[in-house]
Amino acid sequence: MKHIQTLLAAVAFALPCTLGAQNLVVKANAPIADIQPTMYGIFFEDINFGADGGIYAELVKNRSFEFYKPLMGWTTAMAPEGVGSVLINNREDAQSANPRYAAIKVNGGQLSMVNEGFRGMGIKANLDYHFSVWARQKEQSNLSLVVELKNAKGEVVGSTTVTPQGTEWKKYTASFKSSQTDAKGQLSVTFKGQGAMDVDMVSLFPGDTWKNRPGGLRADLVQLLADLKPGFLRFPGGCIVEGHDLSVRYQWKKTVGPIEEREMIVNRWNTEFAHRLTPDYYQTFGLGYYEYFLLSEDLGAEPLPIMNCGMACQFNTGEVVPMDQLDPYIQDVLDLIEFANGDVTTQWGKLRADMGHPAPFNLKYVGVGNEQWGTQYIERFVVFEKAIKAKYPNIIVVTGSGPFPDGADFDYAWGELKKMNAEIVDEHYYRSPQWFRDNATRYDSYDRKGPKVFAGEYAAQSVAIASPDNKNNWDCALSEAAFMTGLERNAEVVTLTSYAPLFAHVEAWQWTPDMIWFDNLRSMGTVNYYVQKMYSNNAGHQVVPMLLDGKAITGQEGLYATAALDKETNEVILKLVNTSNQSKTTNVAVEGVKKLASRGKQIVMQADSKDAMNTLDEPTKISPVESVIKVSGNKVNVTLQPMSFTVVRVKK
Ligand code: AHR
Repeated sequence: MKHIQTLLAAVAFALPCTLGAQNLVVKANAPIADIQPTMYGIFFEDINFGADGGIYAELVKNRSFEFYKPLMGWTTAMAPEGVGSVLINNREDAQSANPRYAAIKVNGGQLSMVNEGFRGMGIKANLDYHFSVWARQKEQSNLSLVVELKNAKGEVVGSTTVTPQGTEWKKYTASFKSSQTDAKGQLSVTFKGQGAMDVDMVSLFPGDTWKNRPGGLRADLVQLLADLKPGFLRFPGGCIVEGHDLSVRYQWKKTVGPIEEREMIVNRWNTEFAHRLTPDYYQTFGLGYYEYFLLSEDLGAEPLPIMNCGMACQFNTGEVVPMDQLDPYIQDVLDLIEFANGDVTTQWGKLRADMGHPAPFNLKYVGVGNEQWGTQYIERFVVFEKAIKAKYPNIIVVTGSGPFPDGADFDYAWGELKKMNAEIVDEHYYRSPQWFRDNATRYDSYDRKGPKVFAGEYAAQSVAIASPDNKNNWDCALSEAAFMTGLERNAEVVTLTSYAPLFAHVEAWQWTPDMIWFDNLRSMGTVNYYVQKMYSNNAGHQVVPMLLDGKAITGQEGLYATAALDKETNEVILKLVNTSNQSKTTNVAVEGVKKLASRGKQIVMQADSKDAMNTLDEPTKISPVESVIKVSGNKVNVTLQPMSFTVVRVKK
């Protein structure tokens, strides 16, 4: 008996492809639908220090003294004691967007102001740093600024001197190199001499920004986005569009034009979560609407701005603008379209040109409202949509279905939006990994003629929605991979998708999980990031049927799969997710092709534990691994490792 068991085991080992193998069929000559180039995109919101302290490379926090506490982020020291003073002045009438500045007095001796940065300043050895400041001397004053970059110990690692001239406000710049790398640097500005001076917009940028743009973006973070080859960039959120109340809603016009004239406001995530208070979180709008459009262009992604619809966040104040006072809000949308696409002779097109981009940005989509719900949203959306279509009939208007993927508010929104033939409906789901696995069939029953779907915010939550204990682990990522087979299989309905949120600073986050984590010097894609990347880098152009026993593969014994054709490379692309902890052998017969190439490419992500994660110390521990796969005739035998996501590409 024992011998027979041993023999059986040996046979099973020798013939892994045939024993217990699952026979799958791909119908390569029966495309179901086009996969839109927008299918896999990015959701950007300034949450978790995503913009200020994150992708926006400014190193000085509270550079214009406009925080609620004007000297937050700054410490002052003087020698000898009492030799000078720092006062915060307010020129509200003359400069309402940026009213405060620091008025410095020094009587001999010296006075220093030290900025702590965003949880420190990430500085790099041998890199150029560009300092700038707006300043004016008082009559008969001769103060100089000694600018010093310091490491965490307070040792000087780079310096320069600036001596402002004259009594009119003027911008002064100076550059220097850092001799050291440190994640916790700081900037010291020491005023020396005799007299008084006003300063504002004290700024420091690294010389290695994305595309070396002055005042630009952190290159490592943008590179991670570029690697995704995203189909669209949704911005600026998220709840940040709505604001805690309407006074701090996102207003695009305040985020364009000269940087020193952009009106800074509090970031709504500043005190949103009592367990993750971030009182020093503000929006300087150095990353504003112009920069979002530019970033979209750099990434080859369709810009997708989401605009306030006259409603503040319904989880907060829920303020609404009365129906007869919506005009300025609607005008903001119309003006934005002109800013993006208008001729340079138009008011807003001219501003775009003045900012450096005479060519239009070719905006095609506009979202109205983020996560609004109820009759108040629908009645406002109707008015916005009508006005947008009247002036810009080709702009595609994206609407929302509220914060949850089911329930009375969701059903009500969909009912109304269907009646009015809405074009694209944004759905959000922050749910358990199990929910994602169970919902691979979610869109199978959606009306093919009805509104298209924008899966605009989603992420599996390992503990509960927005719990601070949520992790970016393999269980979540693999469940998202399984769910995404359903998005792609239903490309006829689902035309845009994006994981959310995008970025998180390891020391300053409010919401977890997030796709990309970073500190002041390093960044890493989570396992969820790499799942997104595998999809977006292997999207294909047409979805074709992939079947097991004549049925779509939607979780049978933990197997999820979808197939697509790449018309440019003439490849069949298979995506197979094995959520079980058993290895699986699949024999995939590709019908409708004469013959496949004898070799293809296999890209695999796998982890042995559901809890496995990438870290800043091991940023690619779990990431796609490529290898060659052999093909015989029109058959591909793919062995799926336990708890793995596999993409196979084979030329026809
Ligand atoms: O992604 C984080 C938040 O989740 C978004 O701001 C909001 O739209 C959703 O509730």
